[in-house]
Amino acid sequence: MFVFKAAVVGAGTMGGEIAQVIASGDVPVVLKDVDRKFVDQGLDKAREVTQGQLGRLVKKEKLTQEQADAGVEEVLGRIHGTTDYDDFGDVDFVVEAVPERMEIKRSVFGELDAVTSGHAILASNTSSLSISEIAEATTRPDRVLGFHFFYPASMMRLIEVIEGADTSADTAQAAANFAQAIRKMPIRCAECPGFVGNRIANAAIAEVWRVQEEEDISVEELDKKLSESKALPMGPFFLADLLGLDTVLHVAEHLRESYGDRFYVSSKMKELVEAGNLGQKTGKGFYEHGN
Ligand SMILES: NC(=O)c1ccc[n+]([C@@H]2O[C@H](COP(=O)([O-])OP(=O)(O)OC[C@H]3O[C@@H](n4cnc5c(N)ncnc54)[C@H](O)[C@@H]3O)[C@@H](O)[C@H]2O)c1
Repeated sequence: MFVFKAAVVGAGTMGGEIAQVIASGDVPVVLKDVDRKFVDQGLDKAREVTQGQLGRLVKKEKLTQEQADAGVEEVLGRIHGTTDYDDFGDVDFVVEAVPERMEIKRSVFGELDAVTSGHAILASNTSSLSISEIAEATTRPDRVLGFHFFYPASMMRLIEVIEGADTSADTAQAAANFAQAIRKMPIRCAECPGFVGNRIANAAIAEVWRVQEEEDISVEELDKKLSESKALPMGPFFLADLLGLDTVLHVAEHLRESYGDRFYVSSKMKELVEAGNLGQKTGKGFYEHGN
């Protein structure tokens, strides 16, 4: 199946960049959120990322500034921001990137099932939730699967293609082909909590959350030591702020419920989320962020 037109639902931390990746792969894409403010933030993110990518080519003298400026408009011209489903009728592939809550995912998949044509593949960017359970909200579970980008989507090459209980082989193959068409590296995973990437990453990071709390080490100090050691590209608490503490917490809780206490849930993170401090997207998390 060829993807002539795609859609992304949810224009938050992931959605804006996912739309940018798809548009940079020459595929027109609809970017939908519930509020125009979030759509515009997603479009701004897509513009900033494209300007950065093409700006680097100008520095290397592979493009002139005029060519880069035209390239930015060309990529952004392929992204149509919206708050309704009017343009979903001829979409071939949807990536859902709404918050990591099963009830929200299921409600969005029910809507997508109603507004898209029967041949369209409905994919979830979920970090850990069951694809089979999401698919039950539709009348086409054979055309539902996980399509999991990593943060930041414009830079990270890996996409996990996750088959639910009813995902057809054709759907999984079409999704892997689409991932390659937008210049990503698909890996096929079976359905299990955390899939591959988050299960590995969380096993390691859980130890950092645990040591920080048990030893009462300052978050800043631990971040500094870990990034100076080059064990990680940046401090894990700062990274969690960028990823969104609500998302990181939901994934950690889901892994803990699924695999037991070899996974750890940071109580400090839980307190921050309960207080509405979700990291960079709300201006405060483990750190203050000047938004
Ligand atoms: N943040 C990460 O690092 C990361 C990485 C990989 C995967 N994911 C996954 O991607 C998904 C989205 O995560 P995020 O961090 O971008 O979340 P986010 O909270 O930053 O953004 C979610 C967006 O969805 C919108 N939304 C909510 N309900 C909606 C609806 N019914 N229709 C349309 N839009 C709706 C919100 O307004 C918000 O803009 C989650 O499943 C998460 O697990 C996140």
